[in-house]
Amino acid sequence: EKGGYDFYMLKEIAEQPQAVAATLLTRMPDLDFSGVQKVIIVACGTAYHAGMIAGYAIEQWARIGCDVELASEFRYRDPLIDEGTLVIAISQSGETMDTLMALRHAKAQGARVLAICNTNGSTIPRESDAVLYTHGGPEIAVASTKAFLTQLVACYLVGLRLAAARGLSAPGVQEALRAVPDQLRTLLESSGAIRELAYDLATARQVLFLGRHVGYPVALEGALKLKELAYMHAEGFAAGELKHGPIALIDEGTPVICVVPAPTDALHDKMVSNIQEVRARGARTIVIAEQGDEAVAPFADAVIPVPATPALLAPLLTTVPMQILACETAAARGHDVDQPRNLAKSVTVE
Ligand code: F6R
Repeated sequence: EKGGYDFYMLKEIAEQPQAVAATLLTRMPDLDFSGVQKVIIVACGTAYHAGMIAGYAIEQWARIGCDVELASEFRYRDPLIDEGTLVIAISQSGETMDTLMALRHAKAQGARVLAICNTNGSTIPRESDAVLYTHGGPEIAVASTKAFLTQLVACYLVGLRLAAARGLSAPGVQEALRAVPDQLRTLLESSGAIRELAYDLATARQVLFLGRHVGYPVALEGALKLKELAYMHAEGFAAGELKHGPIALIDEGTPVICVVPAPTDALHDKMVSNIQEVRARGARTIVIAEQGDEAVAPFADAVIPVPATPALLAPLLTTVPMQILACETAAARGHDVDQPRNLAKSVTVE
């Protein structure tokens, strides 16, 4: 039933092209987006990282303020909510207790709630005003992979819808989204090289992840995956924060995984100079960059190329090497990738 793969996680990583393609066809729920003046996204763990990325897209495309909150924090706060507030709850299982409680907290104060969920008929969609189902299919491995990518797709669709409701458009995004399933196939075909890198990572004392803009949540997601599967100390940082503290962690040979925006992006050169900075302090740099980006080569111990896409959509591609790295590093350390210690697939307690 693992379809020839060693782990469900590898099978689910491989299913991402069709999961994304199916979710791109999702019908938008009947919800009036025209009066939305503010968006609050609530989620936990990997779903929270998807929410962070959604925040950038909604701000840029729809020009609506968007707060992204950890559900476990939000539910104990006294947030500013009114009828113009749209709360989006993102959850693969639809049963995460903190996300459910955050949703109830928001509803009690008059917000409308849209759920983005992968599980038909689960509690979170049942209690929401509208639901956008992702079509990832059942996710069995504890670590979320295809659900994350489909959550991103759903978030982008909502972002485009919010923009349209305000008479705004995001040129080229629909076309770029449609190209992603094939780009994922290309990326997955070349994943053998990533496996090699995992053998080296497996003996590291710590692994750091750096990104900027939407690359920052991708860095957080890479670190989360490595923690939960390989039981290694891993941290993701916004690259601009390096010199405010985290750079002190770097010593000879520390692996640093860097997410680089496209060469045409305003932040590309900033990220390249961050890579230079960590390399100068002994870091071993593994760089995820757009195919053909020549500027990173002099500062990279290894480069993982990803196909080109608009900046905001890049996480759909740059996350995949992170997933494979974490999975293979955990396997190299002899761990049960699908059932990591201390974790449950669905967290129905506080
Ligand atoms: C990490 C992971 C968890 C979940 C989190 C939320 O790989 O799977 O961080 O993302 O527990 O779960 P859902 O999306 O079911 O609410």
